[in-house]
Amino acid sequence: MVDSYPLLTPVHGTIFALLKRYVQTQYDHSTWLRLVEAAGLESGDFSHKDVYPDEQMDALVGAAAGMTGLPVAELQERFGEYLVPDLMYMYQKLLQPHWNTLDMLEHTELTMHAQVRREHSQNAPPVLNVTRLSVHELVIDYVSARRMGPLAVGIVRGVARYYDEADLIDVTPTTSEDGQEVRIRVRRNPF
Ligand code: HEM
Repeated sequence: MVDSYPLLTPVHGTIFALLKRYVQTQYDHSTWLRLVEAAGLESGDFSHKDVYPDEQMDALVGAAAGMTGLPVAELQERFGEYLVPDLMYMYQKLLQPHWNTLDMLEHTELTMHAQVRREHSQNAPPVLNVTRLSVHELVIDYVSARRMGPLAVGIVRGVARYYDEADLIDVTPTTSEDGQEVRIRVRRNPF
């Protein structure tokens, strides 16, 4: 059984700031301004030190889906993959040099996400219940009212890329009908 997750929690400014940079680098600054307008937001400036309402993230991703014609899940997944090098850089002190993709994923909840929670009482990364099945395989149970499971899948792919293991790692997500729970099976090909 996985822990429940509170409703209506704000999202860390870092995630918004990286979304802004993602749009600016993949497209350009004027696309970001159009996106902010389409999302109905008053400002497109986000500080790493603040948190912002969930609805603003939903509005931005929803507007991006409308503008690109890509499904929300696809956009979240791409963005999740893009986030990884920055997250790793920001929290590099917590990374152990001997870790590979599976080790890092196994330690995210109690190491990186625990640190994020300590930094600010309003920070609320999702609870990730990770079960290491063997040296080659683990399962991540993601539960969040924010329904950002595809972001989690993208982060897993980004972590595999970070460790230069993208060709070896299979990622198989199974999503509940309401999107609040995602089980992500991650397997490393031993050969
Ligand atoms: C270096 C490793 C990681 C760091 C530093 C990190 C940090 C963070 C931070 C700062 C947030 C924003 C929290 C908030 O808004 O209050 C977040 C959210 C999130 N993280 Fe992580 N994270 C890491 C790894 C992972 C991994 C491996 C996964 C998935 C397997 C993951 C899944 C997510 C998701 C899906 C969210 C969005 C919020 C939600 O769905 O409720 N993160 N993370």
